Amino acid sequence: MNKRFLSTIAIAGAAALALTACSSDSDADPGATGDGGSGDTITVGFAQTGAESGWRAANTESMENAFSEANGFELIFNAADNDPAAQISAVRNFINQGVDAIVIAPVVEDGWDDVLEEAKEAGIPVILEDRTVSASEDLYASWVGLDFHAEGVKAGEWAAEQYGDTATKMVVLEGTTGSAPANDRAAGFAEAIEGTQIEQIATQTGDFTRDGGKSVMEGYIAQYGIDGIDLVFAHNDDMGLGAIEAIEAAGGTPGEDIKIITIDAVKDGMQALVDGKINYIVECNPLLGDKAAELVKQVIAGESVDKSYYVEDQAFDQAAAAEVIDTRPY
Ligand code: AHR
Repeated sequence: MNKRFLSTIAIAGAAALALTACSSDSDADPGATGDGGSGDTITVGFAQTGAESGWRAANTESMENAFSEANGFELIFNAADNDPAAQISAVRNFINQGVDAIVIAPVVEDGWDDVLEEAKEAGIPVILEDRTVSASEDLYASWVGLDFHAEGVKAGEWAAEQYGDTATKMVVLEGTTGSAPANDRAAGFAEAIEGTQIEQIATQTGDFTRDGGKSVMEGYIAQYGIDGIDLVFAHNDDMGLGAIEAIEAAGGTPGEDIKIITIDAVKDGMQALVDGKINYIVECNPLLGDKAAELVKQVIAGESVDKSYYVEDQAFDQAAAAEVIDTRPY
């Protein structure tokens, strides 16, 4: 993918987000809205995935802060409780209400073609944030989010470096089935550990929730025992935190008997890393609100925007987490 580093730095709270734009082929439809960026309030329907994780809570807060009345928006918020059909029907409602723009954090990648087509026909521009869709790029104006594949690669490279030379039995706690982060993190991690002695013995979805991670981990422990599992790769912090509870309840020591790698770097995850219960975390920055709001304004004003904006992620081991934990905004 041809990525071009932008000088744009979006400040969200205390965090600076470095953005990378790619495939500059999205000219906004100048006739897309009646508002025309004239300074009137812009009504935005935001279709959020749900409230499945600490990451999601931080993302919702970032969006609500950015799409505030003070910034010229009226935000109509819907959380779909991780249900793809409910999310699509929320988007249809936004179209029927005649909002000026729609922002979607898609639960899953597939199934968006029809409703995006309907939005296009209604002249309502769509901006995606966080997750991607498999539908044609012509059906949405722009996307801002994270490189989930690169996150999986980073996590896998660290695993390969630490554990790749010894026989290591790994179980995976997958994110929501069919979601872009679950698909891409799994693929990136698998590529990075190829040829090492890390063997994936089981993978199952925990739906990005703490309870889901805990119950899937309980099942793994019942099947393999604490001694039969060396490593957990959890697609997010919350599922890793659920795994910690399951390991401790079974009399094991998370981070020692069973090593844990997660993705997100939210407060609770970082604390568990500092405490030695998680061994490594790859960041997934949830502070996407400012860039999403900027894109909505640009698109409504008929300005040309890039099709994709990537926010850069960091990664933390225990020492790195201890250095930054008190200054992180989420
Ligand atoms: O799409 C981003 C993912 O969704 C985060 O990693 C996870 O915590 C959230 O639920």
